[in-house]
Amino acid sequence: MKENIVLIGFMGVGKGRTARELADRTGMFAVDCDDLIESYANMKVKDIFEQFGEKRFRELERDVALWLEKSVYNTIVSTGGGFFKVPNINQIGKVVYLHGEFDAIIKEISGHPNAKKKIKKRPLLQNIEQAKTLYNDRLKLYKQAADIIVNVDGRDEQDIAKEIIKKLGIRK
Ligand code: S3P
Repeated sequence: MKENIVLIGFMGVGKGRTARELADRTGMFAVDCDDLIESYANMKVKDIFEQFGEKRFRELERDVALWLEKSVYNTIVSTGGGFFKVPNINQIGKVVYLHGEFDAIIKEISGHPNAKKKIKKRPLLQNIEQAKTLYNDRLKLYKQAADIIVNVDGRDEQDIAKEIIKKLGIRK
């Protein structure tokens, strides 16, 4: 049985598109933790933050993490930027940290044709100074949680997926 691959990293670093590219290349299915939370709670992430607060959102992340550990195999898991803090992150699968520099991430997201929508749906990206502090606070922790680290700046998802497949020794 193949292990799950868990993609972690800051908001906007490309975890979702890398997961889809990996799924395409390996034949594995991909699931996204924020999508799982939204269907479980029947609410958008933004609304969970607004109505119940970040604490409730983090509880839902832990619920999803327990379910993933118990029930999901041979799957690519893309996560929200704070998901890596769940206590069982390393029990879910091989953890891949997608690393981008803060300024590069912001530049990329701001230049996207859907920039407004992409920023609006992320409660923790509303204030750039606060987002930078969050990034700096998390940087070391992402690296500690990771089995492998992949740099994403200036690269497309095809290139990033190829590196992950090679480093993890995945065969189709
Ligand atoms: C968060 C990142 C978001 C989402 C939520 C909180 C975070 O996901 O889970 O808004 O704490 O960094 P993305 O990383 O997909 O933006």
